[in-house]
Amino acid sequence: MSNLATSAPLTTSDLKQKEKLVGENSREGGPSLTQMISFVLVLLASTPLIFGIAQRAVGVNIESNNLSLHSKDSHSICEWGDESCIMGKELFERHMTLSRITEDPGIINRPYLSVASAHAARQVQAWMEDAGMTSSINIVGNVVGRYEADPSTSNPRTIVLGSHFDSVNDAGKFDGVYGVLAAISVVKVLKHRGQRLPFTVEVAAFDDEEGNSSFGTTNTGAKAFMGEYLTKEAAEQLLEQYAGLEEAFRKHQINYGLDSKRSGIVQGLMKSAGTSLEDVAAFIELHIEQGPILEAEGRPIGIVDAINGQTRMQVRYFGESGHAGTVPMTMRKDALGASAEAVSEIERVGNSNDGLVATVGTLNIVHASSNVVPGEVMFTVDVRAPTDEVRIHAVDRIVEYLESVRIRRGLELQITKTHEAPAVPMNPEIRRALATAISEEGLEDSPDSVRILSSGAGHDAMIVGNKIPSAMLFLRCAGGISHNPAEWLSPPDATVGARVVLKYLENLKVA
Ligand code: GLV
Ligand code: MN
Ligand code: MN
Repeated sequence: MSNLATSAPLTTSDLKQKEKLVGENSREGGPSLTQMISFVLVLLASTPLIFGIAQRAVGVNIESNNLSLHSKDSHSICEWGDESCIMGKELFERHMTLSRITEDPGIINRPYLSVASAHAARQVQAWMEDAGMTSSINIVGNVVGRYEADPSTSNPRTIVLGSHFDSVNDAGKFDGVYGVLAAISVVKVLKHRGQRLPFTVEVAAFDDEEGNSSFGTTNTGAKAFMGEYLTKEAAEQLLEQYAGLEEAFRKHQINYGLDSKRSGIVQGLMKSAGTSLEDVAAFIELHIEQGPILEAEGRPIGIVDAINGQTRMQVRYFGESGHAGTVPMTMRKDALGASAEAVSEIERVGNSNDGLVATVGTLNIVHASSNVVPGEVMFTVDVRAPTDEVRIHAVDRIVEYLESVRIRRGLELQITKTHEAPAVPMNPEIRRALATAISEEGLEDSPDSVRILSSGAGHDAMIVGNKIPSAMLFLRCAGGISHNPAEWLSPPDATVGARVVLKYLENLKVA
């Protein structure tokens, strides 16, 4: 159970600030006129000043380091028992609220273990409590809420619903966040009905799905949930592997008033596994498609058959910095020149096979200056493919090429593999049950006509699905745009995902 504290409701100036930030987050090339109109309608409909609804708005002050949980401010904007409001207006409004919790005002950026992500975690926790769940936050940043089974059920199993609440830099409002907030709204409907199921429902809000940090980690939240750091050795290895991570955990522990010594951090990691994983019967992740297929086919929802595998690396070329005016071209050890060659080759490798993709997403010239030959450059490589053979072969080709450039230019090279995840198929039985729920909700003619898609993006389900039967539902998003502020899930489509998961849970007699 969390330790709750209270704070004052938002003031009128807070509400004005809210509207300003929402405005600042819109961009050229963003949502269409229709989307903007529905967005404004939803925003207006959720404004208590207009509708007189007794809303105590959510208060999150990211300027201070006070991470108290604003539980009193987190309750419903909906009338008691109004399910369409809980899975509609309120669900949508919460995306807007979370989008204001950012490291960088004007854009959405919630890097791993940042102050913004800690505040977002507290906000998500408050909403879990509002939905009748007990909740906790652990050292890796995960927030887990629990809605217990009907007490008459002996040895109930657990169904976990969830996704992530960290974001890429300059993100949209829905990637990851939707799977967390829709799951909370489903549980809230159960609470309003006074309904307990013959299984426990947990909502897992994972941190660090995106790998948006300087540490080089990815999926730390989902990995921890699956018990990857259960042993002392594994916990210590994590701290050793990623520079800066231990210090970030220390700050996190201090913020939450927990033991910040190394031994406390290691203990925290060892305890970061999900509760009773052996009881978990299924994991379901709702997510925007992040691609154009559903929209092109006029379908609101589809089911994922498999998630592509991925490898991520940090590459460093060490040359020699020197005067840009005096060092002759033939005598240079230019780390950027080497990196530029590498970037072009990596793109060629990505183009060499259907379904294979290879990306250099960040590149940093260390101590860059316009009149200095770059002496050190770091860049990241992200390689993905539907089959592990194709991905591993592509990574081998890239590593060979990096090495050949090093030799030819007389540099030093460091390659650190920061993440490796195999392609993960989703569970066929859960997929069938979800297809039934989709057709019963009248969204497709029959379970067999439900659209099946594979996922080029990585997801928490790719970690959880290695050990627990898992499935994913994709929701149509505008233009297939994602990892972009223009990312857009319409309010009706947001409701569709929540309704389908609720129907799936209702149909599930014994987990
Ligand atoms: C997460 O969004 C990823 O696919 O990198
Ligand atoms: Mn995501
Ligand atoms: Mn993402």
